[in-house]
Formats: sequence, structure tokens, C-alpha cells
Amino acid sequence: MKKILQPMLMINICTVAHAAPANPTSNSSRDMAYSTVDTHLGEALYPDEEAMTVKIADLIETSIRKQYQSGMALRDAHPKAHGCVKAEFKINDELPQKLAQGIFVQGKTYPAWIRFSNASSDATQADSKKDARGMAIKVLGISGPKLLDNEHSTQDFILINHPVFFVNSPVRYMSFIKDMNSDGFVKKLHIPFSLGAKGTWIALNSRSRIANPLHARYWSMVPYQLGLGPDRQAVKYSVQPCSTYKKEAVPVSPAHDFLRESLRNSLQKNDACMEFLIQPRTSNTMSVEDSMTEWKENKAPFYKVATIRIPQQFFDTPDQNRFCENLSFSPWHSIPEHKPLGAVNRMRKFIYERISKVRHEMNDTPRIEPNIKD
Ligand code: HEM
Repeated sequence: MKKILQPMLMINICTVAHAAPANPTSNSSRDMAYSTVDTHLGEALYPDEEAMTVKIADLIETSIRKQYQSGMALRDAHPKAHGCVKAEFKINDELPQKLAQGIFVQGKTYPAWIRFSNASSDATQADSKKDARGMAIKVLGISGPKLLDNEHSTQDFILINHPVFFVNSPVRYMSFIKDMNSDGFVKKLHIPFSLGAKGTWIALNSRSRIANPLHARYWSMVPYQLGLGPDRQAVKYSVQPCSTYKKEAVPVSPAHDFLRESLRNSLQKNDACMEFLIQPRTSNTMSVEDSMTEWKENKAPFYKVATIRIPQQFFDTPDQNRFCENLSFSPWHSIPEHKPLGAVNRMRKFIYERISKVRHEMNDTPRIEPNIKD
């Protein structure tokens, strides 16, 4: 039991890890409208969902303010970056009509930024520790109406190297956050009860060791809309290395930040290549609300829709690392054709905006979305 609980106490896929009273000082993002649900695609609000989301955001904000009383405030989740790299997001020359929606315009190439990260809220954690790993893609030069009023030109895709999320409802997330924020050890022992058996299992299995952020496979975990109007559908995303890519083994005695080193070494020698995949839902029995249940690939295959080329580069400069730190990724940096779906995504609309504002405010740094020339 102790062996199971020990890693449980360190789960930080997207959560807070520090005790704090719920006494936030910022009202930022309270003016944002909560997401409406698309019943046609199977969305349904949980009771008190909005109120619970505000409460969770309050808890995270309070935790960040406490954790970073001095020094630079980092992200609540995924604070340790392995680097931000420049990339090209090239849509396939040919796509079936069903997939050629939104930014997926046949033959089009967009510039992009990609931030690779560890999930743990401890930014000092060694890369050799088991953890979930993040890949956040910011595609640039996206015009037209956007889902958030304060963002005008990017389409973000946020992924983790595991297919499912360990929580699927605001109630579970709230209970989990309260346990995590508690000072008491006994309360922390309660975490597996808050997550339930399935959530606990997913949380434990989301943590792994990888050799190189370019060699992992990533999933959106939660669904998104594809297209507009009566033909709109629910899809999930995944990114995988191009088949030609040679895998490396995890080093035997790895350096503390070896994932940054492996990314740097790979990109100093060669371009990297990854594939962006879309998984259309094939049956309404595949839930858009239940982010803990995988849409099995044998029932709903993934289709390659774009190639991500990461050109040979040296990204590890103080200026570029600062730029990376100040970026804000959100699933809601999106055009309506790719609207995020499901409770976890609805919560993220409010929470990401709030926490990004708070950390930028604490660091006295403007929140600026990069443009095509950066
Ligand atoms: C209700 C559930 C979730 C909450 C409360 C949450 C919360 C957060 C917060 C507060 C941040 C930092 C935002 C910032 O300061 O800019 C973040 C970052 C991140 N989250 Fe989540 N998250 C949730 C679900 C997910 C899911 C389902 C994924 C799966 C892909 C995910 C992947 C990530 C990644 C990769 C980052 C780092 C993005 C970057 O590189 O800047 N999160 N999350």
C-alpha cells in the first residue's frame, strides 16, 4: 500500500502540490463566460460545474501565490520546460473532406512553436524520475474569429504522453485538489479515494521515463470539435515520431536535465519529424465527457493530417528560454472549428486563463502571443 501511495502523493499531471488556504487576491478572468455545451456532440454540464471550476482556480491561484512568494512564478502544471523549439506544421497535400476543416487546409504550411515539458509541479525534479511529459504546440498565423476575445492569431494543441486523463469530473478534481493542498499526511492518504480505483490506476500509469521528448507519442487525452454546422464531429489528437525516426534508450546514469540535453543534441545534428494525427469518433458510445476512457484505436483509427518538421536549430539561449517561459498555451486559443469539448476542457478555459494571468502579473511581464515574425 505504501509503495502505491508514495508515487500517488507525487502526481502532478496538471495540479497543484502546495498547501494553501483558498484566499485568492485576483479577480482576473471572472468576467469570462463559462463555456456553453454542445448537446449534439454529447456534452452535458455537471451540477455546479462553473462554481466548482471557480473554486479550483481559486485554490490553484492561492497555491501559486504562496509557492512563488519570492522569485519567478512558474506554471502550476508543467513548469519544467525541456525547451521551446521552432517548427513547421505542414498539412497533408490531400485530405478527405471530413478532415479538411479549420486550420487543416490541404497543402498549407504554418510556422509553430513547441514547448516540451515534465508534468510535475516541482520544476527542480530530475528528468530520470517517472513523470508524464507534455508537448504544447502553438500554430501561428491563424486568422478569423477566435474562442477567446484576447487572443487573435494562434491555434494551440496541448498533449501529454498518455492517452487518458486521470480525472473526468469537477467533483473528483475538486476533491483531489483539496487532498493535495492539505498539510496533513492523513488527508494525502485520501487521494486514491478521491480519484477512485480507475483514476488512481491512470495517474500511476501516466508516469514513465522517456529518452528524448522527440521520441515519445503524445495524446490530447480529451476531445475537440472538428468542423462547424450539422457535419461537425468530435475528435481526439495524437502526435508521434515519424516512422523513419530512430529511437534512443533511456541513459543508464542520466544527467539531472537530460531531456533538455537530448533535445538539444538531436536538433543540433538533424531536423526532427513528427506526425499530427486525428481520431474521429466513430460511435456516440465514445463519450466526450469521460476523459478517463480511451477511444480504442481498433474501433476509431487515427489519420495522419500533418507533418511537424522541427528544423535543425540551437534553441537553448537565455532569450529563447525566457520567451518560452512567458508563453501561454490554452486549448481555448482556438478557432471555433476546433472548439474544446467535455468537462475537463470547459474547466481549462477558465483555469488556464486565470493562472496564466496570475503568473504574468506576479512576474510583472505582459502576456503576449507570439506572431509569425518572432
Ligand atoms: C481540469 C483539468 C486540468 C487543469 C485544472 C489543468 C491546469 C493547468 C494549468 C493551470 C496549467 C498552466 C497554465 C499556465 O500557467 O499558462 C497547465 C498546463 C498544462 N496542461 Fe493542464 N490542466 C488540466 C488538464 C489537462 C489535460 C487533460 C492535459 C492533456 C493534454 C493537460 C496538459 C497540460 C500541458 C501539456 C501543460 C503545459 C503547457 C505549456 O507548455 O505551457 N492539462 N494545466
